[in-house]
Amino acid sequence: MEPGRLEELYDWLRIPSISTGGGKASDLLAAAEFAAAIVRRAGGEAELVTIDRGNPLVIGELRAHSEGAPTVIIYGHYDVQDPGPLDAWQSPPFEPELRGGRLYARGAADDKGNFYPLLLAACELFESGELAVNVRVVIEGEEEAGGESIAAWVKADERGADCAIVFDSAMEDPQTPAITLGLRGCVSVSITVKAQPRDLHSGLYGGSVQNALHVLQQILTPLLPGADGNLRAELRAGAEPPSAAERESWAQLRSGQVVLDEVGATPLASDSGEDFRRRNGAEPSFEVNWIEGGAARTVVPAQARAYVTLRLAPGQDAAAMQTTLERLLRERVPDGVQLEIESHAATPSLFAADLPVVEIAREAIERASGMTTALIRSGGSIPVVADFAAAGIPVIVSGFGLADDEIHAPNESFSFDHLDLGERCARELLLALAALPRG
Ligand code: BES
Ligand code: MN
Ligand code: MN
Repeated sequence: MEPGRLEELYDWLRIPSISTGGGKASDLLAAAEFAAAIVRRAGGEAELVTIDRGNPLVIGELRAHSEGAPTVIIYGHYDVQDPGPLDAWQSPPFEPELRGGRLYARGAADDKGNFYPLLLAACELFESGELAVNVRVVIEGEEEAGGESIAAWVKADERGADCAIVFDSAMEDPQTPAITLGLRGCVSVSITVKAQPRDLHSGLYGGSVQNALHVLQQILTPLLPGADGNLRAELRAGAEPPSAAERESWAQLRSGQVVLDEVGATPLASDSGEDFRRRNGAEPSFEVNWIEGGAARTVVPAQARAYVTLRLAPGQDAAAMQTTLERLLRERVPDGVQLEIESHAATPSLFAADLPVVEIAREAIERASGMTTALIRSGGSIPVVADFAAAGIPVIVSGFGLADDEIHAPNESFSFDHLDLGERCARELLLALAALPRG
């Protein structure tokens, strides 16, 4: 990547466009403006679109030089997760630094650094007069926060596209680029349990009054996976088992045991490693992400809070699972105790391996990278992908992240070489998609 372009990415990374709380609206706006300016400088059009006071969307256009070309949406997100404790970072999160072949910054992999090569490839093809597809640029600022702006935009958009390319995922391993055919959905729930008007002395009242932490524990316990790692049937409703062909293709990938060993993880069940692909890609999972309440003193806590998430497997209905999860939580609340719930749902997605766009993309990535490309599922979520699918737009989900990028954690980084690898693959992909039949 040319020094000027690298500096541009660094400047984008310097903007702390945090959408998950604690970020400034002015920084989100600045990161959006920055992306729009990249498109305009290449000679394209770009504007910011704000829906219902959400974070601005960047909507742009780089028109094909030929008539009758197919239309391709390129998608990324400029918002980032909160950096968490700053002293856990070796270099400050919003001062990009290159160390040992890796670019360190919040957003280096998720998603500015992963998406930038795709945006750049489109801009450069446009500038050199080689662009043979109409590129619509769509960059959002609420991906990490479960915002609704992008869903509303996709729904209202009448023009559509023949396909979308999303660079917000990872490679299978450093020698194997991937197209992510499946993504899980996600129901997230913020829970507040109010058991008493105030904390009470546990000697004077304990044994006679409701304890908010106990109530929280009681309502969460039935949702936890069993010893076999499986969730209760109600939470698995609709999950579609993978086909024999897909299971066979997973057997070609590195073993799930290796995936777990790489991070030194303690497995949930005896077959968690061996069965990883199916569980991560085709099963729901439930996590208690955060709990707060009480004090290390002799009190009966009045209030307790939690944040929990249910990842949904392809096939599961997000709205139905949201209703089920809320019902299961409310079911066990004792009389007189208040439960406040705020929930949010994102739909899973799954594309067939034999779609024409998948075949074109696989070949293009193989030509550009010289590596065999895997068709995988990811257990993560990218909500907009289901919105594109619902609008009849097939999506190529890819990207050049690696398992050790530490996205969402301190010291997030992106392999420096993957900036060029991503750009080469994106360029080849955009060129190859000219062959796409127009819808
Ligand atoms: N880019 C990630 C998701 C991802 C990571 C997909 C790696 C495939 C491989 C995305 O930014 C993300 O973190 N999504 C959230 C969505 C949630 C807030 C609804 C997630 O998965 O937790
Ligand atoms: Mn992302
Ligand atoms: Mn993310």
